[in-house]
Amino acid sequence: KRLSWRSATDLRELRITAGVLKQANGSALVEWGKNKVIAGVYGPREVFPKHLSYPHKAIINCKYAMAPFCGMEEHSRSGPNRRSVEISKVVKHVFEGVVMTEKFPQTAIDITMEVLQSDGGTRISAVAAAAVALADAGIPMKDIVCGAAAGKIEDMIIIDLDKEEDNHGKSDMPVAVSLRTGEILLYQQDGLLTRDEFGESLDKVFIAAAQVRKKQAQAIEAKYASVEASGAQSSGMDGVK
Ligand code: CDP
Repeated sequence: KRLSWRSATDLRELRITAGVLKQANGSALVEWGKNKVIAGVYGPREVFPKHLSYPHKAIINCKYAMAPFCGMEEHSRSGPNRRSVEISKVVKHVFEGVVMTEKFPQTAIDITMEVLQSDGGTRISAVAAAAVALADAGIPMKDIVCGAAAGKIEDMIIIDLDKEEDNHGKSDMPVAVSLRTGEILLYQQDGLLTRDEFGESLDKVFIAAAQVRKKQAQAIEAKYASVEASGAQSSGMDGVK
């Protein structure tokens, strides 16, 4: 058993809520164990200055940031740092791989992810939140991206490491995938794994990602159900974001 009494492949409790921000085009809150990450999407919008836009597709802008109070290590620092710039960049690549940017030439789509509370695994929580926020914004995508991290403690491969397991583990491997295409859209790794351990980790990540994907779909369905219900109650736009 792990410190948290979870089995090797148990995920922490995961709750996803779509449409949590009124002014964003799309938004989502992911509460995954003690992590709380909110994502907002703005766009497709016009690009200023215009010459920075692409003639045949939209630009994807991604910003991942941690609130100064989100975890023990932040110590009230604010502003971008090397880690947040790196995560913003890898997450941008994830969504460039799935958003149908060619449908919105000469525009930009802004994806903002704020970590309000952190406990290990915030980049995958942020990707999961951003994917739901994009769907909430009605932006066409090839798939809803999902994922999970695998790790190694002693000789056991475990899924969804919390901060303590990350600190004491021998490896941390966050992965984001498209289950529809089987593509790996984000893959990072700390520590060493043998070839067999790597295969086992990846297999377990895909199984875990399917559980995350289910919660994402439920969050989007719940949002549409609530919009439909409020639409039925009023003939105008009252209650509809
Ligand atoms: O969050 P994730 O696992 O994707 O990234 P990490 O760099 O492996 O960080 C692991 C954990 O360390 C984070 O989830 C936070 O709980 C903590 N951390 C923090 O509190 N402040 C930082 N500047 C960096 C990490």
